[in-house]
Amino acid sequence: MKRWFLALLLGCGNPADTDALVECDDAPVVTWDNFGAGFVLENCQPCHASSAADRHDAPEDVIFDSEADVALWAQEILERAASEDPTMPPQGGVEEDDRIRLATWLTCYPPVAQ
Ligand code: HEC
Repeated sequence: MKRWFLALLLGCGNPADTDALVECDDAPVVTWDNFGAGFVLENCQPCHASSAADRHDAPEDVIFDSEADVALWAQEILERAASEDPTMPPQGGVEEDDRIRLATWLTCYPPVAQ
């Protein structure tokens, strides 16, 4: 598992290579509907929703209300929330299984920016 994360981390600067690094061929299907919406709602929208009551200083333009919003920030989200040493959410607490699902979703079944 550690090697998998390291590979993903090293691949972050080079999106063209990430498919091979997360072994998308055998990956379970992860989408906005079956995972992303709930994950973002629970872990990110408290600060990154446009309607957040208290953004805790999350930047005004970093909004994850929809699949399209996530698509715009997919690379940054991978780096901040799905790396081996994640920095989002700031308080931590996301299970490793969910981080892997997040990485699989963003890498193998990328959200669509519409
Ligand atoms: C408790 C509030 C809070 C939560 C919850 C939170 N964030 Fe953040 N986020 C911030 C703040 C504050 C910043 C700006 C400071 C920084 O970049 O560390 C930020 C910045 C970011 C950035 C950097 C944007 C840029 O300009 O490059 C990304 C990406 C991000 N967050 C993703 C996420 C994701 C994904 C989640 C959920 C897994 C999440 N955040 C949950 C507060 C939060």
